[in-house]
Amino acid sequence: MSVFRAGSTAWITGGSSGIGLAVAQLCLKHQMRVAIVDKNTETLDLATKTLASSDVVTYNVDVSKERDWSDLKQKVEAKFGQVEFLMLNAGIGARGTWGDSDYFHKIMDTNLFGVINGLNTFVPTFQSRTSSNRSPSAIVITGSKQGITNPPGNAAYNASKAAVKALAEHLNFDLRDSNTSVHLLVPGRSPGWYSGNNPGQNKEKPSGAWYPSQVADYMYEKMQAGKFYIICPDDDVSEQTDKKRMLWSVGDIVNGRPPLTRWRPEFKDEAENWMKECNV
Ligand SMILES: NC(=O)c1ccc[n+]([C@@H]2O[C@H](COP(=O)([O-])OP(=O)(O)OC[C@H]3O[C@@H](n4cnc5c(N)ncnc54)[C@H](O)[C@@H]3O)[C@@H](O)[C@H]2O)c1
Repeated sequence: MSVFRAGSTAWITGGSSGIGLAVAQLCLKHQMRVAIVDKNTETLDLATKTLASSDVVTYNVDVSKERDWSDLKQKVEAKFGQVEFLMLNAGIGARGTWGDSDYFHKIMDTNLFGVINGLNTFVPTFQSRTSSNRSPSAIVITGSKQGITNPPGNAAYNASKAAVKALAEHLNFDLRDSNTSVHLLVPGRSPGWYSGNNPGQNKEKPSGAWYPSQVADYMYEKMQAGKFYIICPDDDVSEQTDKKRMLWSVGDIVNGRPPLTRWRPEFKDEAENWMKECNV
């Protein structure tokens, strides 16, 4: 039995746009009930209209505000019963630099504490029900390739996504004997931030990117296969290229190189040649 089943309840943060919205659509396809939690009123209205289903309820909540989580959990449970599929997906990609404390707080508050708040609200419930309730449940945390390979240019974002990767790995281990599967979703390039469903933005999908629905379908396929790491390719970056990039990154540590050598001119040729020759 899968968590994607009729009558099962999903809670999706950042679910009014992009990947979260596509996963909400996927859940509805499986006759699930869906609670969408997002702080953008405009996209929440659009999502309500687009999904047009009595099995959807939307909440205008900022995931970084810890105090709102338990009230909201009670409201959702009163309406739909216990949550079986928790997707902690809300994320922002603001730009900033060293010395800019607002930049670090803004990103960490949503991308990291938005996930921590969700886990602290739900994991004890998931843990307590496992012995009595044998139906499967799942937790998906949305990370990023930037949290694995750490490209230069957005230290706070990369750190937030490296942190949620660590949390997801830890949680997967801690719940290994339970009925709750835990997964780290790592999207490739997908138009959420570039256009997607955000009102007023360019609706064109950038070439090479995947549609959010492709990310959702890939996630579904890998979850069904029991995979923890769901590293999505896109039309520009293959699964093999991702594997090589990740291996090169960890090679910085094991080979005693400085960090981020993929982007250092003095290592450029070596990195490129290694990737050409590497067989994964
Ligand atoms: N799109 C990509 O290429 C890509 C790549 C790697 C990782 N990701 C990750 O995927 C996730 C989804 O991104 P997307 O591409 O669908 O972008 P998106 O902007 O379309 O969706 C993110 C949603 O999160 C909501 N949100 C942001 N801050 C929030 C907060 N504090 N409280 C509640 N809701 C909040 C936004 O309003 C938005 O609806 C993010 O975590 C992002 O970091 C996306």
